[in-house]
Amino acid sequence: MHIGVPAETRPYETRVAATPETVKKYVSQGHKVTIQSGAGTGASFTDEAFAAAGAELVDAQTAFGADLVLKVQSPTDSELPMLKRGATLIGMLDPFNSENALKLATAGVTAFALEAAPRTTRAQSLDVLSSQANIAGYKAVLLGATLYPRFMPMLMTAAGTVKAARVLILGAGVAGLQAIATAKRLGAVIEASDVRPAVKEQIESLGAKFLDVPYGTDEERDAAQGVGGYARPMPASWLTRQGALVHERAKQADIVISTALIPGRPAPTLISVETVQAMKPGSVLIDLAAGRGPEYEGQRGGNCPLTEADKVVTKFGVQIVGYTNLASMVPSDASSLYARNLLDFLKLIVTKEGALNIDLADDIVAATLLARDGAVTRKA
Ligand code: NAI
Repeated sequence: MHIGVPAETRPYETRVAATPETVKKYVSQGHKVTIQSGAGTGASFTDEAFAAAGAELVDAQTAFGADLVLKVQSPTDSELPMLKRGATLIGMLDPFNSENALKLATAGVTAFALEAAPRTTRAQSLDVLSSQANIAGYKAVLLGATLYPRFMPMLMTAAGTVKAARVLILGAGVAGLQAIATAKRLGAVIEASDVRPAVKEQIESLGAKFLDVPYGTDEERDAAQGVGGYARPMPASWLTRQGALVHERAKQADIVISTALIPGRPAPTLISVETVQAMKPGSVLIDLAAGRGPEYEGQRGGNCPLTEADKVVTKFGVQIVGYTNLASMVPSDASSLYARNLLDFLKLIVTKEGALNIDLADDIVAATLLARDGAVTRKA
């Protein structure tokens, strides 16, 4: 089969959907691989390395014109016409964006959105949300440490003692847990909160303190169990109590990292404007939900309404970081892990003989299929 890997063109995107390592594997499986020249530059993979792995370096039109196209993000409107009708497209195609799904269907491609894979043991090796959120959690701590005007660890020096930074982490999924682990390595004192009761043990095993907001009703307890491992929106009563606790803890914190998301819904507001006003001057908020929260003053914030997507702003003396693509700030490893996710996904839809075989009895294949035969196949 002809596998094509175009360069990514969306703003702030530096990753690439194949690496010399995965190209070598595709070639050894008998596929022809074409890579758009320069596609790996942002992630430090050279054209020469791709050529040495067996790829042919081509222009965008040829890479998009393959039978099977591997992408990081969904093609732009101007790229869509380069896809062949009947081709297969795989990437992080934004499955909850019904407008984009319709565009892909109209382009006549069979499209797989890997973010929609179930969170099961079998799907772990192709779980793009995990591989990329892990990186985002790590990078969030490094960004926080860089902007914070003090040390992270406790230091005893001849010139006096420096206190350890206090880090508050809201949302302890994949990104939040990696943020806890990274902040711990840097010597911070960490507190973390999540709605799902299952994470208490994970937070504590990483050396952080769990901030408990006890459930007051069965409705709150049921909502907190979530669905498919994901959080569901919590009742307002619980969110109000959580907000009060977050307000108190954020006042003491030096760095706040918020990662709370609810699939298919606006991210919950966890850090109110009043909480930012009460935070210490010089403290830092890294909002990984940037651009995915509710509308506030004409733009979408994140877990904090004051967050501005892809900007660092200072509000009431607090530096608020709203970068929306932190994985792209660690482009080489982010691409390597993502490319391996794709390699594993392809095993589900390409036979050993190299033919496409879409088996809808496979739960991963069925869940990720976004468009086929001109129609959207997945409900947003
Ligand atoms: P996510 O990125 O959708 O959300 C991040 C975190 O925000 C979640 O832990 C969520 O509970 C939390 N959150 C939502 N509302 C909140 C609120 N009001 N306050 C505080 N926290 C709030 O989650 P992610 O990282 O994608 O993980 C989702 C689930 O999938 C988790 O249960 C995780 O353990 C599970 N998982 C399973 C895998 C597998 O078995 N293959 C692989 C990776 C994750």
